[in-house]
Amino acid sequence: MRTSTMTSSPIANGAGPAELFELVRNDLAAIEEEFGRETISGVSAITEIGEYLRGGGGKRMRPALLLLSSKLFDYRGRGAVKLGAVVEIIHTATLVHDDIIDEAETRRGRPAANTRWGNSKCVLAGDWLYMQAFKVALEERNFRVLDTLIELTQQMVEGELLQMEKLGKLISLDEHFDLIFRKTACLFSVCMRLGAILGGASREHEEHLARYGRDLGMAFQIVDDVLDLTASENVLGKPVASDLREGKVTMAVIHALERCTGDERRKISTVVEQRAFDGVTHPEILNILTRYGSLDSASARAMQYAESARQAICVFPDSAIKRALLRAPEFVVAREK
Ligand code: IPE
Ligand code: IPE
Ligand code: MG
Ligand code: MG
Repeated sequence: MRTSTMTSSPIANGAGPAELFELVRNDLAAIEEEFGRETISGVSAITEIGEYLRGGGGKRMRPALLLLSSKLFDYRGRGAVKLGAVVEIIHTATLVHDDIIDEAETRRGRPAANTRWGNSKCVLAGDWLYMQAFKVALEERNFRVLDTLIELTQQMVEGELLQMEKLGKLISLDEHFDLIFRKTACLFSVCMRLGAILGGASREHEEHLARYGRDLGMAFQIVDDVLDLTASENVLGKPVASDLREGKVTMAVIHALERCTGDERRKISTVVEQRAFDGVTHPEILNILTRYGSLDSASARAMQYAESARQAICVFPDSAIKRALLRAPEFVVAREK
């Protein structure tokens, strides 16, 4: 993240999740295969879209977290690979739908699926992916797993819907945090919870891990929103300054709105209401955010969540897995894409 408070991080440049996820490398490779096998349909459009989405890569943060969580309890079954594929397929489905809703043209450095296959086919491919994820999850024959995934999917859909209803409006920080919990942090939390369920963890341990996932997810989305304002499309692989153009008010903007002059407020409102940088430029908005330390403030909040995630797992004894989990928040706040 390119704000003044972050540049000193030792992993800000270069080292990424590959180094962080070394401990689960083999399982992540197995998840890739599982994902590939599970997204084949008799209808070629679905297979093609599924393959395109999987081939686009992605950080694979969510399955990695699920694997680490299960390994904290020395889980060795096949279920973690299966459920790792499930959470990545669900994540993929939400991205396909999200890009349609946001009218995004780029994802993971390539044309977004909706620009290649059109909205209608992509909506259906997303639906198919959701159902396929549940079909694979059902193989675990575990009602808690299904309960957790159903609740998650509804939270995520509700999050996207609530967000649509708030587009163009200047929302409060509490409303914003509720949104980012639903659309992002909930899935991170579920990944940790599913690992714990597979590993036969106590309810208490499961809750600690779920809290870790939630706080890590909050940090992750706050950073995503800061990057949307500060990064370049080249590095990010998806459009920048898109949140404002989509009418989405995120943390740094809320921070500035609470402090800025009437004139500055009008500038921000103009972009958000008109959904365009029309008469107001992106650098002008960035100037306002910098003037009030709003980007740094959002980054600091992400760091607080990251620290809170680390605290949530202090009850576990030292192990290589725990150390990897303790490092994940560092990666999340230092990432550049
Ligand atoms: C993108 O998630 C959607 C958000 C929650 C911000 P990621 O940044 O994890 O996307 P990929 O999977 O690495 O592309
Ligand atoms: C996160 O929201 C998307 C989902 C949880 C589906 P964004 O709209 O900010 O995600 P990006 O920036 O498009 O990846
Ligand atoms: Mg989007
Ligand atoms: Mg975003």
